[in-house]
Amino acid sequence: MKTHNIAVIPGDGIGPEVLAEGTKILEKTAALDGTFRFKFTYFPWGCEYYLKTGEMMPADGITQLRNFDAIFLGAVGYPGVPDNISLRDLLLRIRHDFDEYVNLRPVKLLKGAPCPLADVKCENIDMTFIRENTEGEYAGSGAWLYKDQPNEVVIQNSVFSRKGCERIIHYAYELARKEKKTLTNISKGNALNYSMVFWDQIFKEIGKEYPDVKTYSLLVDAASMFMIKNPKRFQIIVTSNLFGDILTDLGAAIAGGMGLAAGANLNPERKFPSMFEPIHGSAPDIAKQGRANPLATVWSASQLLDFLGHEAWGKKLIDIIEKMLMEKKILTPDLGGTATTSQVGDEVVRKLG
Ligand code: NAD
Ligand code: IPM
Ligand code: MN
Repeated sequence: MKTHNIAVIPGDGIGPEVLAEGTKILEKTAALDGTFRFKFTYFPWGCEYYLKTGEMMPADGITQLRNFDAIFLGAVGYPGVPDNISLRDLLLRIRHDFDEYVNLRPVKLLKGAPCPLADVKCENIDMTFIRENTEGEYAGSGAWLYKDQPNEVVIQNSVFSRKGCERIIHYAYELARKEKKTLTNISKGNALNYSMVFWDQIFKEIGKEYPDVKTYSLLVDAASMFMIKNPKRFQIIVTSNLFGDILTDLGAAIAGGMGLAAGANLNPERKFPSMFEPIHGSAPDIAKQGRANPLATVWSASQLLDFLGHEAWGKKLIDIIEKMLMEKKILTPDLGGTATTSQVGDEVVRKLG
């Protein structure tokens, strides 16, 4: 029997609550399938760990994770530890050090999911964001000069390498070709006169290899307006790290909310483990109350199953989420229900069986 070795980092706030449901559901798919099993290894890293040890993960943390087949992560960040430390030293560190340069985030309105837009049909919100995930605005390069002095200066550099731009744009074109979809490039060359002009140039260069892919280019400000006014114009989208971060929260808002939004951090070459996570944060406002919606984590479990070659189970999980949204019986408060996190997880398990 095939064993999938998964590193589990529950993290902070609602992270452990939603991941408990995610692992329970993955166990169930394996038990029903009979040809594979999961071996979960837990890493207690995060803000509590930081308060005890002074670091978000041990110095050899990356080495400890290196040989797993994948990482399943809850959420990171909590009041009491500065976000720039907690996120940079754990989540962003893993994305960077494991060269998970593709952040694949589906924005798909399932039947029964709430949508704040008027007169929108489910089939009109069905996009896939391909967000650059290792450099750009998140490169972490800069300086803080003359701290606390009147001439204080802060510099935050963006880093757009040719290799970094080419590989993410290539990935997006390949996906658009494979799925016979349009590809929209979202950037901001009118103001960011080096980084985004370069990005747009590479988008055009690589496009020559894909004459079969219909493309569009939009400025990020106009793109955010069109995501609300006319979401059906988007299919596959490629964009930079920061724009992708912002636009996928907007995407979550039009596709059922943060409780349904998932993302895969992929190292496509599979040289390093890829990481699967709900895109929401640790939600301190609802932590430890059993109110967190675990369905975003179920969706990321579906992405994990796809990645491990169990696409039929991956699809089954999405079908179950959709069924539960349509039935409107067992849902958490963010979706208008009264069920707890674990009741929603139990219902997914029941429907799998
Ligand atoms: P957040 O996503 O944690 O919460 C935003 C709002 O959405 C809150 O009202 C919250 O209750 C709600 N929400 C989020 N997930 C939900 C779920 N599963 N079910 C029901 N409601 C849900 O964003 P934030 O408040 O900006 O950030 C809180 C902390 O999380 C910060 O420290 C931030 O840096 C961190 N963060 C981490 C990640 C990550 O680990 N991937 C992502 C985003 C933010
Ligand atoms: C996300 C999150 C992270 C990001 C934060 C927590 C660093 O918002 O995964 O969308 O900006 O990438
Ligand atoms: Mn985000």
